[in-house]
Amino acid sequence: MNNIIKAQVAARANQTLRTACITGTGSYVPEKILTNADLEKMVETSNEWIVERTGIEERHIAAPDQPTSALGAKAAQRALEAAGVAPEDVDMIITATITPDMVFPNTACLIQETIGAKNAFCFDLEAACSGFLYSLDVAAQFIATGRADTVLVIGAEKISSITDWSDRSMCVLFGDAAGAAVVQHRPGANGLLASVMRSDGGLSDLLKLPAGGSRMPASEETVKAGLHYMKMNGREVFKHAVNSMVGAARDAMESCGLTIDDIKLVIPHQANMRIVNAIAGRLGGAPEQYFINLHKYGNTSAASVIVALDEAARAGRLDKGDLVMLIAFGGGFVWGAGILEWWTP
Ligand SMILES: CC(C)(COP(=O)(O)OP(=O)(O)OC[C@H]1O[C@@H](n2cnc3c(N)ncnc32)[C@H](O)[C@@H]1OP(=O)(O)O)[C@@H](O)C(=O)NCCC(=O)NCCS
Repeated sequence: MNNIIKAQVAARANQTLRTACITGTGSYVPEKILTNADLEKMVETSNEWIVERTGIEERHIAAPDQPTSALGAKAAQRALEAAGVAPEDVDMIITATITPDMVFPNTACLIQETIGAKNAFCFDLEAACSGFLYSLDVAAQFIATGRADTVLVIGAEKISSITDWSDRSMCVLFGDAAGAAVVQHRPGANGLLASVMRSDGGLSDLLKLPAGGSRMPASEETVKAGLHYMKMNGREVFKHAVNSMVGAARDAMESCGLTIDDIKLVIPHQANMRIVNAIAGRLGGAPEQYFINLHKYGNTSAASVIVALDEAARAGRLDKGDLVMLIAFGGGFVWGAGILEWWTP
């Protein structure tokens, strides 16, 4: 266990650091639904294979004129409404995404313009499927020091734009979505109790989008070779995902002296039902402690955890004071776990 994490947990508990609470959430999924039956007509696959190996039944696909910022802006507006915060009162916007509208300007700036958050400073954070979790911790640090009072944390992805629709091993797994959270200090409330973030760049080859960056700029050859699409070694990723998420979740619980029985709801990264089952098998707890919506959306990368948290909150699965554990894993590799005391007015 990292001493820095323990020190932060202690400082938050003693209220010597300003704590950071989620005071409102929102999410948005595009209208168009792509079912497993639709995919059967596109590649050689079957509903049975997809459901058995992944648990995914359908996913949502953004319209051609809907970039990531359009999805993120809708989720952000819903989160602001839920928190009762006016756009002008947002100090900072972080957008976690691997599918930015453009390399630059950053997607958070584009969302800022759409929602009218004219007093915010804005940047993107790229930590693949762990992007929301990483961004939440960054927001908490800015709030802890008093550098920001109101932070909008967004996880938004148009993964369909980097999916090879002729590759059956990839195209069945992903979907488009966005989620957002307003993060603020609430005196006396604990908010984000613990956050564990880990990375291993030595495993970067197992899940990546090879071309379009400075290493391999876009060219006729890269387009022909399909190098602007995600590539993954599914079996290896599966193994690392399970081990890494279990380790991070255990560390996060240990840093606060908690066990799985203290956690009301676990929100794991919604990539694959078999991964979630393997994690649940090792962490323990009752099946109803694990929130699942991946059958409806597939893996929506940085949007995954926050869309699930928003759905859980709106479904009344969380009461004030409940502990919720978020767990994520993604390309990099980057992974982590956060424990949050739920706050409501
Ligand atoms: C991708 C994944 C579902 C594949 O399941 P798997 O059980 O490992 O399957 P394999 O990749 O070994 O493939 C088994 C067979 O199914 C085939 N297959 C792959 N995709 C298929 C599909 N959509 N439909 C039908 N068959 C498919 C393969 O070609 C292979 O056939 P072969 O044995 O004739 O070569 C699984 O590895 C996985 O979930 N990995 C983690 C992915 C993930 O969540 N990544 C994101 C983390 S952030």
